[in-house]
Amino acid sequence: MDFIIEAYDWKKAADSTLLHINTDCIIVGVFHTQTLSGIAQKLDVATKGLISRLVKSGDLNAKAGSTLMLYEVVGISAPRVLLVSLGRQVALSPKTFIDVSRAAWRAVLDTRAASATWMLTQVDINNRDSSWGVRMSALTLRELTYRYTQTKSKVEIDANNDSIIKKVVIVVDPEYKQAVRHGLDEGIAIANGIDLTRELGNLPGNICTPAYLASIAKHLGINWSLKVDVLEQKQIEILKMGSFLSVAKGSAQPPKFIVLEHQGTDAKQAPVVLVGKGITFDSGGISIKPGESMDEMKYDMCGAGSVLGTFRAIAEINLQLNVVGLIPACENMPSGNANKPGDIVTSMSGQTIEVLNTDAEGRLVLCDALTYAERFKPAAVIDIATLTGACVIALGHHNSGLFSKNDALADMLLAAGLYASDTAWRLPLDEEYQEQLKSNFADMANIGGGRSAGSVMAACFLERFSRSYPWAHLDIAGTAWKGGREKSATGRPVSLLTQFLIDRAK
Ligand code: BES
Ligand code: MN
Ligand code: ZN
Repeated sequence: MDFIIEAYDWKKAADSTLLHINTDCIIVGVFHTQTLSGIAQKLDVATKGLISRLVKSGDLNAKAGSTLMLYEVVGISAPRVLLVSLGRQVALSPKTFIDVSRAAWRAVLDTRAASATWMLTQVDINNRDSSWGVRMSALTLRELTYRYTQTKSKVEIDANNDSIIKKVVIVVDPEYKQAVRHGLDEGIAIANGIDLTRELGNLPGNICTPAYLASIAKHLGINWSLKVDVLEQKQIEILKMGSFLSVAKGSAQPPKFIVLEHQGTDAKQAPVVLVGKGITFDSGGISIKPGESMDEMKYDMCGAGSVLGTFRAIAEINLQLNVVGLIPACENMPSGNANKPGDIVTSMSGQTIEVLNTDAEGRLVLCDALTYAERFKPAAVIDIATLTGACVIALGHHNSGLFSKNDALADMLLAAGLYASDTAWRLPLDEEYQEQLKSNFADMANIGGGRSAGSVMAACFLERFSRSYPWAHLDIAGTAWKGGREKSATGRPVSLLTQFLIDRAK
């Protein structure tokens, strides 16, 4: 899909400009105020008052995001005009703008339009510039056009009769033409990253194995000049990652420890390290999960997927920041070789862990990656993991859980999430909770005992391995995928992470 930016000065343009735009669909916003303004007003003049009549009749509902598709409007060369209600306020909230954009694109995608001219970017959005508006316009469309097809037959794909949109012209005021270019480039790069993350998440566990994740990382490295190393079982043993290896040993699939490096600036600058949980299938191990929805545990590598997607995005925008990605990848399976409840393992840090529940495996693979991160002398480390079902209970599917002892880092992540519309909510990490991890036989247990504060327990566990640098943990169990009829990976939190890194590079 190609996005093009074109500048029109509607205050100066002749009324006839609108009549002759060569496109399959024009998308125009309409405020339900006393008199029409901007492009809607030009269109109203060109159509001899048609828009006013439709607003007055109520056929174009005043609720923001309502749409009305007009076909073959007399005098307009475009065969379709989509009217999109912007509500009664003259400036939109960022959230309303996103909702309106989604609704508008949905209406366009319901048609056979192959090209579209988008005129919603000329409205004012509270606390956001037009560059943001352009970014979100591209992102909302790309979100709706993603299709998972890799493991479907051609017949099934063809039967879907998908939209065929190929070319999108985004119309902006001339004064912003340069500035929004940047927003569009960022939007496309983030959308490409999100697509990769979604695709990896949606792939089944028998295809998306640790070796498959490693091959994707290698390809990213080749295509985007990233340094990529894949450490094999032997090397992981030499590193003494006893905790990570204990999870991997129940599976027939060998573990991989993937290291990506994006050098965007002076090599001496301390990097930001992203650590992604890469459990390509989580059966629970010997503490096996119940059968219902167990298939969704193919999504347990979405932290890893989001790291790969974020690298795809920052490489494409050529971000001037050093970033390292670490992915401990393996399966969590029951077998004669698997971890057993009560087993004690020694982590790379030297700390010993009593594995009271083999299903609390995410923290066991992440802790060794957090220790490995020390060698980069990082400016900050963020881990991203589908870590606890308890996080879904606490926050649902809207916010990722954020944990950090570092207020500045936490605030920066929260702000990035808000700006990118990929929000997180901060949860506590107080010392008092640490007590619940006490073990009679090892330095700590891998679960907190009982069901209270499950997400905090997991974060407290990780905190013990991250004391030598500023650290934050994102629990994305509720945000990385949607269940039910629309079961699919969301690509979160690629937007948040990419925005955070963009902000760090400033
Ligand atoms: N991958 C799961 C977390 C998860 C569960 C994410 C459901 C999304 C939906 C994780 O490895 C896990 O099994 N966690 C356990 C921890 C418990 C044993 C302390 C959980 O949340 O039940
Ligand atoms: Mn588990
Ligand atoms: Zn898991």
